[in-house]
Amino acid sequence: MNGAPVTHAYQALVVGAGGAGLWAALELARKGVKTAVLTKLYPSRSHTGAAQGGICAALGNHEEDHWEWHMFDTVKGGDYLVDQDAAEVLAKEAIETVIELEHMGLPFNRTPDGKIDQRRFGGHTRNYGEAPVRRSCFAADRTGHMILQTLYQQCIKHGVRFFDEYHVVDLLIEGGLTRGAVAYRIADGELHVFRSAAVLLATGGYGRVYRITSNAHALTGDGMALAYRRGVPLEDMEFFQFHPTGIVGLGILLSEAARGEGGYLRNADGERFMERYAPTLMELAPRDVISRSMYLEIRQGRGIDGGDFVHLDLTHLGREVIDRKLPDITEFVRVYQGIEPITEQVPVQPTAHYAMGGVPTDLHARVVVDERNTVLPGLFAAGECACVSVHGANRLGTNSLIDILVFGRRAGLEMARYVEGNELPDVPLTAHHRVEDELELLRTRRRGENPNVIRAELQSAMFDECGVFRTKKGLQHVARLIEHLKLRYCQARVEDGGKVFNTDLLDAWEVGYLLDCAEATVAGALARTESRGGHFREDYPERDDTNWLKHTLTYQAEGRPFLRSKPVTITRFQPKPRTY
Ligand code: FUM
Repeated sequence: MNGAPVTHAYQALVVGAGGAGLWAALELARKGVKTAVLTKLYPSRSHTGAAQGGICAALGNHEEDHWEWHMFDTVKGGDYLVDQDAAEVLAKEAIETVIELEHMGLPFNRTPDGKIDQRRFGGHTRNYGEAPVRRSCFAADRTGHMILQTLYQQCIKHGVRFFDEYHVVDLLIEGGLTRGAVAYRIADGELHVFRSAAVLLATGGYGRVYRITSNAHALTGDGMALAYRRGVPLEDMEFFQFHPTGIVGLGILLSEAARGEGGYLRNADGERFMERYAPTLMELAPRDVISRSMYLEIRQGRGIDGGDFVHLDLTHLGREVIDRKLPDITEFVRVYQGIEPITEQVPVQPTAHYAMGGVPTDLHARVVVDERNTVLPGLFAAGECACVSVHGANRLGTNSLIDILVFGRRAGLEMARYVEGNELPDVPLTAHHRVEDELELLRTRRRGENPNVIRAELQSAMFDECGVFRTKKGLQHVARLIEHLKLRYCQARVEDGGKVFNTDLLDAWEVGYLLDCAEATVAGALARTESRGGHFREDYPERDDTNWLKHTLTYQAEGRPFLRSKPVTITRFQPKPRTY
């Protein structure tokens, strides 16, 4: 028996309160649009807060820099799968975005003459690859945290309405039109229907699909899975980034800023092994290159003590630099590893970090559903859950924070335009029934498997077979496993049968999202018989522009994935061999 939901009406709805969602909400509020932000956490706990090293913009505060160089680095970093019109927007608008953040009061580190301080990050260069450039603006190693606080304050000031601890469990899309979303209030298990003409998905990534990840528990691909289930394709999901320096075993991020400030990577012989793989940029090569190089060293027996990790060496940087520029991560090392990074080398290993793929959008954050870029009216996506394809096959460090803000702002502006010309759509009284029935089954089923077991099997298989290195055999194995896990998931049960703060139920619900994201990732990885950026096929180790210079679109039909493709937008930079 279905109950009557609580209903709300807002002109615009933002799902997720990280940097993309907050900036979109701020633009909407500034334009007088009645806006609600739904978040399954509290805004100040969104994963943007975990971004450490910086946000890039070609300000040139230390040395000459240009947005064209930034655009080029982004395109090359993405192994030429980047849509270059998007990269141009990113690199140009990065500059005004960072200046606006400064004007909002974000406490950036400063140069001696009072400008925003900037540091080096992987793949960011001057003059089209000549040498590393200082492009990353930072607030010590807590840049994301400061962005989150700054934007949240601005949203509160402008009267944005927040619904904290509301977990979005369905999108309302009927007759080719977006009509709102259904959310589950965590406090009491009640369903709330939000009618809205414009809905922004800004839910972040799905790093929790991997056993070792830098991502918080909440990063379960909610927005991607919700859209995928409603017939929207997911783009380029096979491209997943492994950050080279995670805390061994735990995956907690040790910012690339450590290398930007001059840290080295060393193998068991004490060598700076990156000399062999990226002689120009060394430890500041892009992440896909470094993570692969680390594993090659490990495979050749040069992991530390024969283990699956290498050393990050900061011992030559000195206490003053470490305390002023890297205070948080060095404290993590002390707390989690019992090591003093000022005097001792730090064991590190690659950790699943960032999804380059996601819900396809155009330059205005409008969701598009096919190779002709047909817009789905009223649905928007921005940030890690989206794929405007500004990162292509591999994202450069610090391009994520700037992506969420540039395209979060564009989303807010476009949504404001959209709601001006569109009435609040009708929502059928039964809109929530389907998801209510599914949640009830999961909550009340008496027998069945614990979804935590399913999640753990998925995470291990994804890490081992769909991680830094991939093969046809391994991918086929994980694809079959996912099919099997989906069947088992349909019979799963949770321990807690109650309604009040039933996090057990929501953890289980999120396993469903992870399975969908994994399915799309593996389908794309299996099909793409080449190596490019974060997708490395040992059985196809070369990039193949003749057959694969194209985006993957993965759809779900009758519970199974199928693939189409769309062309890459190339404007200024023709694909070239990618060396560093
Ligand atoms: O290493 C870092 O600080 C991470 C930055 C990023 O992913 O952009």
